[in-house]
Amino acid sequence: MKKVVILNPKGGSGKTTIATNLAASLAAGGLRPCLLDLDPQGSSLAWLKKRPAEYASIDGINGAHFNLRVTRSWQFRQYPDAHAILVDTPAGLSRDRMVDLLRDAHRVLIPILPSAIDIDAAPSAIADILLTNYPRERIAIVGNRVRTRTQALGALEKFLASLNIPLLTFVKDSQLYVRASAMGLGLIEFPPWMARDESDAWVRLRVWFEAIPDNA
Ligand SMILES: Nc1ncnc2c1ncn2[C@@H]1O[C@H](COP(=O)(O)OP(=O)(O)O)[C@@H](O)[C@H]1O
Ligand SMILES: [Mg+2]
Repeated sequence: MKKVVILNPKGGSGKTTIATNLAASLAAGGLRPCLLDLDPQGSSLAWLKKRPAEYASIDGINGAHFNLRVTRSWQFRQYPDAHAILVDTPAGLSRDRMVDLLRDAHRVLIPILPSAIDIDAAPSAIADILLTNYPRERIAIVGNRVRTRTQALGALEKFLASLNIPLLTFVKDSQLYVRASAMGLGLIEFPPWMARDESDAWVRLRVWFEAIPDNA
């Protein structure tokens, strides 16, 4: 079982969108993912409730009030068959909770919007993670709601390259994501004629997930 924490202190950066679409992509690829929702708003679990029964199944845990220190191993025991724990986090997670959460995380995935404001905030979000002594080589970035390549995006790419942090893929800005979130589906589950352009990103992220060593 591998644990990926989707993290960005900024609300609206796409944590829930990335967590749910990655879960759908893993499930569609024959894996068994479990969404651990730490956000009191429960958006990932709300998405899961809407998921039609005929689609590959995904488990969900409400972790909003977890004491992460105590329940860490319990999370893993409750779903012994799960291949992936995908942790959807709230905006502005406290430092203590972040430390507890990252202790056994195989990877941290940070969605970043291409706006100058969000890109300017990215270094401090990454610094906060590094300050917990989390290994830099386990951090990865996804550009979310990307329409065109802006100057700010180029600057972000340079900054990430200087830190050796991979920018895994770009997720486009598309109303299909809004529709998918209301249907309990991931874009990878949409018919190809609707979402062909976007399925690449989700296949790429699934391949990235599968390549994470179990013992990392
Ligand atoms: N790639 C995208 N294209 C279009 N809308 C998106 C995209 N990513 C996120 N959104 C929308 O933006 C809003 C915030 O995204 P969300 O995933 O909930 O962010 P977070 O969980 O970080 O607060 C939601 O309404 C979501 O549907
Ligand atoms: Mg969210």
